[in-house]
This record gives sequence, C-alpha cells and structure tokens, in this order.
Amino acid sequence: MTQNTADAGIRTVIVTGGGSPRGIGRATARRVARDGFAVAVIDLDGAAAEETARLVAEEFGVPTIGVAANVTDEASVDAAVSAIEAALPPVSGLANIAGITSPVPFFDTTLDEWNRVMGINATGTYVVTKRVAQGMVERGHGHIVNMSSVSAQRGGGVFGKVPYSAAKAAILGFTRALARELGPTGVTVNAVTPGVVSTDIRAGATTDELEAKLAADVPLGRQATADDIANLFAFLLSDESAYITGSTYDINGGSHIN
Ligand SMILES: NC(=O)c1ccc[n+]([C@@H]2O[C@H](COP(=O)([O-])OP(=O)(O)OC[C@H]3O[C@@H](n4cnc5c(N)ncnc54)[C@H](O)[C@@H]3O)[C@@H](O)[C@H]2O)c1
Repeated sequence: MTQNTADAGIRTVIVTGGGSPRGIGRATARRVARDGFAVAVIDLDGAAAEETARLVAEEFGVPTIGVAANVTDEASVDAAVSAIEAALPPVSGLANIAGITSPVPFFDTTLDEWNRVMGINATGTYVVTKRVAQGMVERGHGHIVNMSSVSAQRGGGVFGKVPYSAAKAAILGFTRALARELGPTGVTVNAVTPGVVSTDIRAGATTDELEAKLAADVPLGRQATADDIANLFAFLLSDESAYITGSTYDINGGSHIN
C-alpha cells in the first residue's frame, strides 16, 4: 500500500489483472487514476500488483493499494477485497480484467486446460464480482465492467481457440443476466470485447510474423494499444455511463463489424 486516505468524495476502482507492465489492467489503473479515482490492483503476481499501485500513486497522487489474489479462489479474493475495503474509500468500480488465453486446438485440449481457461476467465469474473458487488448493492451504486473478447463473437479467429472463446462468451451471458438482476439496486454491469491488443498475453506463444499478420487483418491497420482499451473501461467505470447496463462494447479496429 502506498497511501491510505479515505477522503470523502473519492471513490475506489478495483482492477483485477493489473500487475502486467504492458497489460490492459495496468493501463486501466493509470487511466482511472487520471480521472481521480483511488485504485486497488489485484493480481496473482502480488509484487507486480504492488508495483502498479506504487507507480500509479507516484504519477497521479491518488490513494492506491496492490494486493495478491488468485481470482479463482474465494478465500484469496475475500482477503484481498477486505484489505482493499479497509484501506481505501468505498468501491464504486470493478474492472474484471485478469485473464489468460489459449491457442491449443480442440482435439489437443485437455480437461485441465479447459478448466484452467474457463476458471481464470469465467469463474474468476464470477468470484470477484460476487464479493465486490455486495458492497455496491449496500451503497446503491456501482459499475462493473467485464473483459470478454472478440473471440466470443467471432468464434476465435484471432489467437485464442475453443476454451478461450467459450470462456469469453460465458462472460457475456454472465454480464447480461447480472445486469438484469442488479439493475434495480443501482449497479450497472457491462462487457468489453476487444480485438487484438498489443500486450504480453501471447508472449512465448507467438512470433513477430503472427503479430504483424494480426495487425494487418484489422481494418484500422494496427493492433489496439492497452490505452485504447483502458479509455473504454474508464468511461464504463464512471457515472458518465450511468444509464448503460447489460451492454457489450466492441473495440476491435473494425475486425468484427455487427
Ligand atoms: N491482449 C489481447 O489481445 C486481448 C484481446 C481481448 C481480450 N483480452 C483480455 O484482456 C485481459 C487482459 O489481457 P492482457 O493482454 O492485458 O494480458 P496480460 O497477460 O498482460 O495480463 C493479464 C494479467 O492477469 C493476471 N492473472 C492471470 N491469472 C490470474 C489469476 N488467476 N488471478 C489473478 N490475476 C491473474 C496476470 O498475472 C497478468 O498480470 C484478459 O482477460 C484477456 O483475455 C486481451
């Protein structure tokens, strides 16, 4: 933790998967801090979460905390969120960004791989949301934004294959059903479906040639930056989006046009 000032009027955004230096989570943490939110970073890599928190506090002067948690583990998430709630102002936003991809073809997919990909992407979103939304409902205010992917809409076709596409599609159903259920409480729930984003999620499983091809296939002619996606998260985490719920926001450079 870098600061601990529960100033009246300041509210907190929790970002999961915010440790990765070039990732969408860290970019979102920076972006909402720029808007004046206190920021709590959750990541499996606790040192990376703490580093994001420290860098964001230094750059933007907002209260921050970085905590280790495995989003698939209820006890771990409960401990992390309790620490956040004790340290920072009331939580008004949750960005469920922690996730992994998987390029394994269907007949090579083991049940362990299926469970790992479904677990971190889909079950993790459920576990964190269930814990964090309780306080939002009590306060009658909150914005939850879930990370899906264009792979859920196109049936893969970018990098992740069947388990990834299935997990990200599960997040869309989760988002829509929860939006309906929490609407009367004043809590909004939306999903974001990026196309290919230039981060380290494919590190070790990609090549420069594939990365160039992924960019060339996009009508706008480039991969998204993490900041492109963070800008959309920031809007959906703010009261500017107060009347939007149950929606899916495409952000893919034109690679999937409905
Ligand atoms: N990069 C893309 O092209 C792209 C496109 C569409 C959607 N997405 C989604 O965006 C999200 C972020 O992706 P990124 O590209 O920034 O990836 P990244 O690998 O840079 O960051 C993911 C972060 O999640 C954390 N994480 C992994 N498992 C976790 C767990 N069990 N508990 C807590 N934290 C965990 C990692 O430590 C890492 O910091 C993912 O959900 C991904 O599926 C990415």
